[in-house]
Amino acid sequence: MTQQSWDELGGALSSAEFRAASDAIVANIEQVIEGKTATVRLALAVLLAEGHLLIEDVPGVGKTKLAKALARSIDCSVRRIQFTPDLLPSDVTGVSVYNQETHDFEFKPGAVFANLVVGDEINRASPKTQSALLESMEERQVTVDGVTYELQTPFMVIATQNPIEMEGTYPLPEAQRDRFTARIAMGYPDSSSELAMLDVHGARDPLFALKPVSDANTVRRLISTVREVHVADAVKQYAVNLVTATREAPELRLGASPRSTLQMLRTARAVAALEGRDYVLPDDLQNLAVPVLAHRVIPTADSQLARRTTDAIIADLVHRLPLPHERQRSPYDNRPSTGDGRAQYDQRRN
Ligand SMILES: Nc1ncnc2c1ncn2[C@@H]1O[C@H](COP(=O)(O)OP(=O)(O)O)[C@@H](O)[C@H]1O
Ligand SMILES: [Mg+2]
Repeated sequence: MTQQSWDELGGALSSAEFRAASDAIVANIEQVIEGKTATVRLALAVLLAEGHLLIEDVPGVGKTKLAKALARSIDCSVRRIQFTPDLLPSDVTGVSVYNQETHDFEFKPGAVFANLVVGDEINRASPKTQSALLESMEERQVTVDGVTYELQTPFMVIATQNPIEMEGTYPLPEAQRDRFTARIAMGYPDSSSELAMLDVHGARDPLFALKPVSDANTVRRLISTVREVHVADAVKQYAVNLVTATREAPELRLGASPRSTLQMLRTARAVAALEGRDYVLPDDLQNLAVPVLAHRVIPTADSQLARRTTDAIIADLVHRLPLPHERQRSPYDNRPSTGDGRAQYDQRRN
């Protein structure tokens, strides 16, 4: 991945500026998505962690709406791709065409040449087209006819899909699911949020009235602030332990990759910054274990037979894993593991 330097991103923001800019984005999205604060914040965290988001849930729960609302809240280039079986890889990446007048090839950029790319119903595209998208997500560049074109920063793909396999869909292979920093489910709104939705959305879709409250430049500075968030060595070790536990878990046939460890740490930095901290807590990693790890692992045949979801398996692993510096804790102790000893992870304050 090509990493832009700190200068190119613009300087870090003060904590007050960071809070104002990030709160504005969350509040804006919440004008159109009712009762989903945690989900909205996680989506923003993935953007600030320079990652990509997979929203996987049943139809009609606001997946497309969340993706569009985030895209509309930031004044930047946005492309939306409706995935269909006849979408070609070149529609995604771009194509060079011969120009009769200049007698030269001209590059026509595809849909990935944008800051925010909304890929709706990604499992309806052919595997070839899916892999064109997923490759550019990782590389942050596209090579067509031997010429490499850099993608923009920020660059985030927000893909949606329905988890219930239907006829004519191509489920993403594990190697491609691994490219997504986090997978979130929307879940049904609670009854008061659903009621509020009827009032706000009953007559006209409020999405059309949604105005940007931020821009690409601000997002670059938010990202550069997130990169500065401190992670203590013990917390890094805990991230490694968590991922290692997925590889050793008897319930899993495939554990999480080193790529996921990196993405977990980045997302934890973003979540910490969104909570107004300049250091990561083990709690951040615990809260992120399911959204960041569960979509990458494969359960054994036995776990599948027992209908254990990978969400449940990962949540269990988190529960059993001792926190850093808590050596006496048994791996089978189910006590909630938050709260105590926060100061030890905050080396900056000493
Ligand atoms: N939590 C929610 N808050 C507001 N509107 C919602 C929510 N869940 C679903 N909706 C509404 O339901 C409709 C379907 O949403 P959409 O994003 O198209 O669903 P999906 O992409 O998940 O199939 C939209 O009109 C959306 O406004
Ligand atoms: Mg949709």
